[in-house]
Amino acid sequence: MSIPVETLYESVEKILIKNWKDGFTIPTSKLYPFQWNWDSGFISLGHSYFNLDRAIKEMDSLFSGQWENGMIPHIIFHSENEKTYFPNYDFWNANINTGAPQRPKTSGITQPAVHGFILENLLNKFPDNEKLIAFVKSSFSKVVKSHRWFYQYRDPEREGLTFIFHPWESGRDNSPLWDNSLDRIVVNQEKLPAYQRRDTSLAPAEERPTSYQYDRYVYLLELGKKYQYDGRGIFEESPFLIQDTLMNAVLIKSNQSLIRLGQRFGFDVGEIEEWQQQAKAAFVQKLWNEELDAFTVFDLRGGHPIRYKEIGSVATLYAEIPNTVQAHKLNDYLLDLHQRGYYVCPSFDVDHPLFDSKRYWRGPVWPQMNWMIYHGLNAYGFSATAQIVKSDIIELVAKLGFYEYFEAQKTLAAQLNNGYGGSEFSWTAACVLDLLKEKNKNE
Ligand code: SER
Repeated sequence: MSIPVETLYESVEKILIKNWKDGFTIPTSKLYPFQWNWDSGFISLGHSYFNLDRAIKEMDSLFSGQWENGMIPHIIFHSENEKTYFPNYDFWNANINTGAPQRPKTSGITQPAVHGFILENLLNKFPDNEKLIAFVKSSFSKVVKSHRWFYQYRDPEREGLTFIFHPWESGRDNSPLWDNSLDRIVVNQEKLPAYQRRDTSLAPAEERPTSYQYDRYVYLLELGKKYQYDGRGIFEESPFLIQDTLMNAVLIKSNQSLIRLGQRFGFDVGEIEEWQQQAKAAFVQKLWNEELDAFTVFDLRGGHPIRYKEIGSVATLYAEIPNTVQAHKLNDYLLDLHQRGYYVCPSFDVDHPLFDSKRYWRGPVWPQMNWMIYHGLNAYGFSATAQIVKSDIIELVAKLGFYEYFEAQKTLAAQLNNGYGGSEFSWTAACVLDLLKEKNKNE
């Protein structure tokens, strides 16, 4: 890899400082001008190399948006003046739920629960820092409360697997995974509130979700609002009701981090251990698909698995969910892609007709996914594949810049001068730096 690490290091610092807004970090200007939940976790790791106070503040700002029921929302609208994003705080109207904070304003849904493992990662980086120790201790109960919310509100039948009712919650907004569930929604344009997208004037439309999908995103937002975003009516009525691999794997990973953190501090972790035991067993039992050699998401509304190969399956490695045989299958999947000329890991099955190498979550490579998969592969001892996952994302960033997501086909990427989506992207900067630091440590 021919990247001058110092130059990359400088660029990362520049991006993180540019996107730092006096207390939190935006993912990128204009396209995402607020604080995003799982972005913030990875961003915090990036800040920690330059300014640990900022890393702590980042997480603290995110927790300031937590609802009384425990949910940590997917967007925190610290500024009410930004007008470049739809849906803004007024469209969400989260205060329809009396437990949503008056300030800061928030959205009404959540995102992958990265906070447990992020806090543990920070503490492992700076085990003797008093301020960080105090912060992690005081944040512990907030994160546990957010996990309790998942198990109470998103697992009403107590299976150990939580559901999402909006594609935005999964982090993989327009993955083909959701197509059939979204097709159940018949949109009546007269009933759907009028809205204007902003994203397609800030990023190329062919790299973003379609208007057909946006109509359904708005429909599901309105459904959430109708039930104050946490009512049982969501479970009973939503046409989109999914037990997602990535959401549940990330929650399981963070459960494990919370258990270790709690034990370190002498806190009671019995409740988390119970969640964890049930969750891991349910995950392996319900979501593994023998024919695909992959974990699949489960359509709760339809009562069947959604049989596609995609990146949520591979991310289970990070939570150490697969058994040895399953882990080998996932490792083989990645090696095959590598041998066939793809950057790993494409977000969707490259052999499927629905694969679209530039459209958001229908194919491109995403830096934060590579970060998780890298750590997962190493945990299983697949260090050669981990090295590929790491060097692929570093190569993409070195060649194309700190974009939001990237072309997965090497022959196509070779003809490009940029990545896809937003530029000067915060979690791209943070994840690449963290991976580079890992490399320096181990090699
Ligand atoms: N990712 C979504 C968007 O594109 C929201 O979280 O706006």
